[in-house]
Amino acid sequence: MAPSESRPSAPASATVGPDSAQASATVGPDSAQASAKAGRDSAQASRAATVTANPAFAVGPVRRETFGAFVEHLGRCVYTGIYEPGHPTSDEAGWRGDVLELTRELGVSTVRYPGGNFVSGYRWEDGVGPKAERPVRLDLAWHSTETNQVGLDDFVDWSRKAGVEPMMAVNLGTRGVQEAIDVLEYSNLPGGTALSDLRRKNGAEEPHNITFWCLGNEMDGPWQIGHKTAQEYGRIAAETARAMRMIAGDTLRLVACGSSNGRMPTFGEWERTVLSEAYDDVDYISAHHYFENAGVLEDHLAAGAVMDQFIRDIVAHIDHVKSVRKSSKDVHISFDEWNVWHINSPRTPIPSGTDWPEAPALLEDLYTVADAVVVGDLLITLLRHTDRVHSASLAQLVNVIAPIMTAPGGAAWKQTTFHPFALTSAHARGEVLQLAVESPSFASPLHGEVPALSAVATHDRETGAVTLFAVNRSTTEPLRLDADLSAFAGLRVVEALTFANEDPLWHATEQDSTSVLPSPLEGVAYDGGWLTAELSPVSWTMIRLA
Ligand code: AHR
Repeated sequence: MAPSESRPSAPASATVGPDSAQASATVGPDSAQASAKAGRDSAQASRAATVTANPAFAVGPVRRETFGAFVEHLGRCVYTGIYEPGHPTSDEAGWRGDVLELTRELGVSTVRYPGGNFVSGYRWEDGVGPKAERPVRLDLAWHSTETNQVGLDDFVDWSRKAGVEPMMAVNLGTRGVQEAIDVLEYSNLPGGTALSDLRRKNGAEEPHNITFWCLGNEMDGPWQIGHKTAQEYGRIAAETARAMRMIAGDTLRLVACGSSNGRMPTFGEWERTVLSEAYDDVDYISAHHYFENAGVLEDHLAAGAVMDQFIRDIVAHIDHVKSVRKSSKDVHISFDEWNVWHINSPRTPIPSGTDWPEAPALLEDLYTVADAVVVGDLLITLLRHTDRVHSASLAQLVNVIAPIMTAPGGAAWKQTTFHPFALTSAHARGEVLQLAVESPSFASPLHGEVPALSAVATHDRETGAVTLFAVNRSTTEPLRLDADLSAFAGLRVVEALTFANEDPLWHATEQDSTSVLPSPLEGVAYDGGWLTAELSPVSWTMIRLA
C-alpha cells in the first residue's frame, strides 16, 4: 500500500508562529526562523517536488549487501591497486594499507572476485600455493599477462583485513561443474579431502566458508570466453548449482548470470530461458548495467530512471517464470556490476597484437561531479528496489572504473564517486521507506521526460533516525524539495550535505582530490513536520534527521 495520497499543501503558505519556530530545526549558521523563511522565499522562486514518507510503509530492509564492490584481475585493480609489495603503506603480505583504509571508509560490504570477463578463462589453481611456483598466463579477456601473484587464499586474506565478505565467481566459460565443485571443496571443507588439505598445506588452516558464488559471468555476451546460448548456460548453471549444493547445501547463495545490460537483444528471453532451467537451484539472477556520459548531460542524468525500468523488467521476467512454475520460491536480483563507465573513452585502451603487458592501466575513468550525482542516483534506485534487489556490486573498487585511485609507489585518493557511496553506506539504516513523490520532469533527448527528483528515505526504528537521499537531475533548474515527515514524531535535522559544483564536469586528480567535496546544504528548514530544502541543478543531497 502506498502512503496517503492526500497530503497537506506545501508549507510555502504556512504561517510561522513562535511555536512552530521553536519546533524548527535548521542546518547552517542561520536561526531556525530565518532559515525556514529563507526556504519559503526561495521556494516561491523555484520548481518544487513533494515527498511524503510514513514509517508504516516500508519497502524492505536496508541490506548491507547493497553496498558491495568488485575486484577483478583487470588493469591495475589488483596489481598496484590492492596489492603492491614494497609500497610504503603495504603490509608483509603486500596489501596496500592506504587502499585498505579507503576501502573501509567507503563502507563496502561484499567484494566480488576474480572477475568479470577474466574469470571465464581463469584456472583458480594457478593462484594458490607458493608464489614463486605460480604459472604466468595470458589473460585473453583483457589481453594482458597474469602473474598469479594474487589468488584465492590471498584475496580471502585481503577481505578479512578490509572487513568485507568475498563473493566468488566460478569459471563457466572454459570450465564447468568439476572445477566449480573443486574450488568449493578447496575453500570450504575443513580438511580430510585432497583439496581441503591442499588449502591447509598452503597455509590456510581454517576453511574460508565462502557462501556467495556467481555461476560464471556475462555468459550472454559474445565477447565472453565460452559464450553460450541461454539454453546451454541455463543447463550448466543448474547442473553446477546442484553439484555445489551436494557439498554445501543451502548454506550457499548462488547467482545465475542474467543479461549483461538491458540493451542486449536477448534480454528478457535470456532471463526466461535461464530461469526455466535453474529457477529451483539458484537464489539470484544477476543484472549488469553501465552508464556513460556520451556528451549529452541530460541523457546521462537520466541513468537512474533507466536503471529503474531495467529492474522492473527483470522482476517481470522472474515473476513470469515463478508463475509458470507455480513456485512459491522467490529469486532475487544480484545487481553485481553497476557504475558509470565511459566505455568509449580513448584514455586507456585495451592492448592488442603482440603486446601482453602486466597490469596495464585499463579503464581508468576520471569521474566528474555529474558522474558522482549519477552514482548517488543509481544507489538510490537500488535501495528503492530493496524488496527485489538483494545484492549489488559497484564495479569496480580500485583504479578500474573505480572510486579509489592509486599511483604505483605513490598516493591513493578518492574520486568524486567515492562520496555519495560512502555517505549512503554510512547512513542508510533500518528500513527503506516507500515514498510518494510528485516531481516536475526534465527533458532528456534520448529518454524523454524524466522526473527531476530521485529520492529515497530510510528509517531506523531503533534510533528513530530518518535519512533522506535526493538527486536533482535537472541540468539547469534548482528544485525545491518539500518533504512531509509529519508522521514521524519529534524529528530534528542533524546534518544536511550536498555534492554539486559550479562546473559539474570537475574531476579529482592525484594533485587535487579535495577542493570539491560534499558540503553543508544551507537553508534547510524543518517546520511543523515539513522539511524544505533547495537542491541545486546536478546535485546529490543527504539530509539526516534524528
Ligand atoms: O567491469 C568491467 C567488465 O565489464 C567486466 O569484466 C565484465 O563482466 C563487464 O562487461
